[in-house]
Amino acid sequence: MAKKPILQLALDYVEMAPALAMAQLVGKEVEAIEIGTPLTKAAGMLAVRTVRHLCPNNIILADVKTPDVGGLEAKICFDAGANWMTVLGAAPLATVRLAYEEAENRDGHEMFIELTGVRDIMARASEWRDIGVERMVYHRGWDEGNTSRIWGADDLDTIGQLIEMGFQVSVAGGLGLDMVRFFKDVDISVLVIGRAIREAADPIAEAKKFSEEINKYWG
Ligand code: 5RP
Ligand code: MG
Repeated sequence: MAKKPILQLALDYVEMAPALAMAQLVGKEVEAIEIGTPLTKAAGMLAVRTVRHLCPNNIILADVKTPDVGGLEAKICFDAGANWMTVLGAAPLATVRLAYEEAENRDGHEMFIELTGVRDIMARASEWRDIGVERMVYHRGWDEGNTSRIWGADDLDTIGQLIEMGFQVSVAGGLGLDMVRFFKDVDISVLVIGRAIREAADPIAEAKKFSEEINKYWG
């Protein structure tokens, strides 16, 4: 049986108050908490620092989607208390390398390649692997999801190939409870859920349901 994926709650807010309330409400039901890209822009590293303080036992990911200045941005995220941070897949290899090295120099810290908008994923993947990158976020972006892109067999195929290459793959992007089953035949490492938990009538109950689904297919 494959290792169970980690459940990660994405806090895509533009204000601190609802983000902190949600982190405190649902933090115990999830292993990882993401400071979403909008929140990192609206509130900066104060959001990372505060969630780290409120949720000392969670893994924290800063979804900064860094395009340049990789080493410094990784340092800023890690210094603020994040365990994980993301670098945009479109970033130059130099940026990827510098963020990777910053993570490598610290215990328990990792950088992820964020695949939003990357068209030639398999062509780029071996370059990232050569640097040493181990993790990536396979992401159907919000804007794509709002227009036409739906999850399909081609996504599963690419995710499977990335895992075969040795990557640990997180999946994200408009995932609801009914979509957990979709990934059951690939050994995903992290299931990223934002709106489906945050906007549920009972976010705690919804997070529990995601854990039950994960246990059903990987338990
Ligand atoms: C948007 C993101 C989101 O955090 C990610 O898509 C998860 O949120 P949701 O489940 O609501 O799609 O990185 O760029
Ligand atoms: Mg995100």
